[in-house]
Formats: sequence, structure tokens, C-alpha cells
Amino acid sequence: MVQWKGGVGKSTLAVHFATSFRAILIDLEPWGGATAWWAGKHATELWQAPGPAPVLKALEQGRCPRLRRGEAGRPPLVPSHEQLLSLTSGAATGVAAWAWTSEGIPTLMVPTAEGPRPLAEALRVAIPRWAKEWGTHVIIDTPAGFGPLADGAIAAADVVVLPVTMDQWAVPALRKFMRAYAGRVRRGLVVPNRVRARVADDGWAEVIGQEGVIEPPFVLGPPIQESEVLHSFRRPLTAGGAPGAARSTVLAQVDVAAHRALELAGQ
Ligand SMILES: Nc1ncnc2c1ncn2[C@@H]1O[C@H](COP(=O)(O)OP(=O)(O)O)[C@@H](O)[C@H]1O
Ligand SMILES: [Mg+2]
Repeated sequence: MVQWKGGVGKSTLAVHFATSFRAILIDLEPWGGATAWWAGKHATELWQAPGPAPVLKALEQGRCPRLRRGEAGRPPLVPSHEQLLSLTSGAATGVAAWAWTSEGIPTLMVPTAEGPRPLAEALRVAIPRWAKEWGTHVIIDTPAGFGPLADGAIAAADVVVLPVTMDQWAVPALRKFMRAYAGRVRRGLVVPNRVRARVADDGWAEVIGQEGVIEPPFVLGPPIQESEVLHSFRRPLTAGGAPGAARSTVLAQVDVAAHRALELAGQ
């Protein structure tokens, strides 16, 4: 799940996609959007757990990160951790260090079992290995903006899912992303999210549906509507009892989009 813009539904869709096809969810967002969905009021306990961030520990030890078992309607989770914050700001502290490449580009280095490596590169190599060892699909939630966490996830992914809201800021951000990353993305699925049956959304839908806006390796995926329950729920819609009509409607839409992503991954 990638988008330079925040608030488009990356974390929300990450949790629900993972549940939809029983994937393991890795939360690389330093603020732990997906972890908050998953753990509710217990999210801070995971986020501030002692010791290194689970992902960083796994990179350093050269093995799979420890999973939080998914209970009732939740996917297994590699939670976010406050230490990830130091990987997005300029001030890497303790866990990572800046180094300069031979081209003079500053790169964030992390300890790995094979020695210090650029963070994005370490993730690119490690995540597919973890997926293979787990024997299952993996969904990765990433922070908005540029940075090695999202870059590493993009490089590791078979499919990059780009949620996009139908507004004047999201569409230019999407186009900019597609232009910049076209060469680095195997397949990209643009998922219109929070779509409302209103005239303005029809206008934007027309814009992104136009020829030349979404081009290979990106394709336009099925939309997910604005949903009151998705907005107000503090736990996955699949957790906590049999879903009623409102939850069922949006869960069905999420399933369609998630399976489209899975289909692209298999191609
Ligand atoms: N389809 C949707 N319908 C209604 N609210 C949504 C939908 N998708 C996401 N949201 C809400 O939008 C907000 C931002 O979503 P989030 O997943 O945190 O975005 P991001 O991870 O891209 O920053 C959250 O309050 C979430 O509940
Ligand atoms: Mg998020």
C-alpha cells in the first residue's frame, strides 16, 4: 500500500486486504496506522514495546520477524514501532546511520545479518524471503511521502496498491507517483477509495479513467465507496461478530479489490 499522500486509506485498506486473503500484515508506517486498526487501545503497548522494532530486529538477525497472532477477524501482524520514526526523519538515532554512496547520495544504513545495508535494499531482499518462509502473501503498509521504508516495500512487492481519493490533491499526487516509479513497479493497482455518489466524484472518476492517465504497469482497479462504518470503526470490520448490512457491503467491495490485487500478483 503506497501513496505519497496521507489520509487516502492505505492503512485502512492494508488491514482489510490482509484479512480478505489471509495475508500477513507488515506495518512499516512509523505512526502505526494499521497497528492501531489491529490493536485498538492496545496499540501503544505494541508501538512502545521494549527492544528494537520487530522489523529492524529481523533484518539484523537475518530471520523472519516475530508475528502477533491474528485473533478473531484480524490478520497476523508485524506491528509498527516507535523506533521506525527515526527512519523517516533526518535524525537517525542509534538504530540506523547515514552513509554516502559513491555518487554522494545520503543513504540510511541499517545493520543486517550480512553487515550494514541501505534500509530500502535490506527490505527489498528480506521481505520476499520472509514471505517465502511464512508460505503466505504479505501486505505492507507504508508511510506517506518519500523515504526508504516505502521504497523498500515497493521494490519487494509483486503489486503496488495505490489508494486514491477523488479530490484535486490526490489525483496529481497519484500521477506524480506513477511517473516517478513506473520503472520500479512490477504491477500497480490504483484503487479509488472513499468514492461518493456525487457529481464531483464523477468528474474525478472521469479524469482518472481517461486514456493516458493510468498507464502500464499501472491499472485502474475496482472502487471502494465512502463507508460510514469504515470511518467510525476502531477495529477491522471482520472483527467482532457477524457483520450487518453496512459492513457486508463494504467488505464485499474490499474483497473484490483485494482479489484483483492478488490476481495481478500471480501474473
Ligand atoms: N472507504 C472509506 N470510507 C470511509 N472512511 C474511510 C475509507 N477509507 C479510509 N477511511 C478513513 O480515512 C481516514 C484515513 O485513512 P488511513 O487508512 O489512515 O489513510 P492513510 O493510511 O493513507 O493515511 C481514516 O479515518 C479512515 O477511517
Ligand atoms: Mg496510514
